[in-house]
Amino acid sequence: MDIIWEIFIILQANLIVCTSAQPNPPKIHEGWWAYKEVVQGSFVPVPSFWGLVNSAWNLCSVGKRQSPVNIETSHMIFDPFLTPLRLNTGGRKVGGTMYNTGRHVSLRLDKEHLVNISGGPMTYSHRLEEIRLHFGSEDGQGSEHLLNGQAFSGEVQLIHYNHELYTNYTEAAKSPNGLVIVSIFMKISETSNSFLNRMLNRDTITRITYKNDAYLLSGLNIEEVYPETASFITYEGSMTIPPCYETATWILMNKPIYVTKMQMHSMRLLSQNQPSQIFLSMSDNVRPVQPLNNRCIRTNINFSMQGKDCPNNRAQKLQYRVNEWLLK
Ligand SMILES: *[C@@H]1O[C@H](CO)[C@@H](O)[C@H](O)[C@H]1NC(C)=O
Ligand SMILES: *[C@@H]1O[C@H](CO)[C@@H](O)[C@H](O)[C@H]1NC(C)=O
Ligand SMILES: *[C@@H]1O[C@H](CO)[C@@H](O)[C@H](O)[C@H]1NC(C)=O
Repeated sequence: MDIIWEIFIILQANLIVCTSAQPNPPKIHEGWWAYKEVVQGSFVPVPSFWGLVNSAWNLCSVGKRQSPVNIETSHMIFDPFLTPLRLNTGGRKVGGTMYNTGRHVSLRLDKEHLVNISGGPMTYSHRLEEIRLHFGSEDGQGSEHLLNGQAFSGEVQLIHYNHELYTNYTEAAKSPNGLVIVSIFMKISETSNSFLNRMLNRDTITRITYKNDAYLLSGLNIEEVYPETASFITYEGSMTIPPCYETATWILMNKPIYVTKMQMHSMRLLSQNQPSQIFLSMSDNVRPVQPLNNRCIRTNINFSMQGKDCPNNRAQKLQYRVNEWLLK
């Protein structure tokens, strides 16, 4: 940590020199951030520095509605007004491009394929922009969100933007009610989710070994990525990468999906770098959890249906207390 601070101070000093020498301050490159300290080479800001190195990213350090968070299930509140999620694919399979962005495995749908989602905590319809994978270097780490302090081996994030209010993702990401991110935990098992199987089988994943590699996929059914559950958990948060805008409603599905050991291994062999540079595994591409502060975590899981012995009954009582208070 000391070394990083020293480098940071030197860096700041350099920036000040640059600033005073030029009429316009240098624009810090929007890709200048990382999840992990770089073993070799120049300093790149890790999560605890994101908000300090670029004033446009200051929400990353001063924001109070940041993501990811640790979900304590005993603090969840049952919200009977949450409607079921509605996925609208128009009954069509879609094509897209899978990328190694150097930070994530990313899948973007072809422009003519519009998949949108509504219902749940949403007041607007949101269009799918990107599917992003986070994963760990070891099993049992790699998800951004935690559940009762526990991480999963990975997390699939389906990033949607409000297409009723905004013309594109960039516009929506910085605006109120801009984003809805559906998050699905990944666990390791013998068999895998059929959608992830398309992305992570050896023939496909090895095409995007290095940064900026891309590979076309077709005939994808987005519905297949979802686990078989209608239950979810929702809270108001932020993007988990700079600029950390607090415009995201998160929806965490209440069941994980599965990948095989082999598929997890293949992901760990993806490099953050280009072929000419040293191999640096993309794994552990995770922002640490952020304070919940006074945010409410809502769910459509009706605890009182689980029997009296369930410790989660507390959530039900909490809801009743809130309702009583409102009625006064
Ligand atoms: C959602 O997507 C479907 C299928 O692509 C489309 O028919 C529908 O118009 C979209 N909904 C809205 C509100 O735009
Ligand atoms: C997004 O929309 C805004 C406003 O309509 C426009 O100025 C901007 O160029 C668009 N950005 C992209 C990446 O299409
Ligand atoms: C929740 O479960 C209880 C017990 O089964 C039931 O009485 C209540 O109507 C349920 N609430 C909702 C909104 O489904």
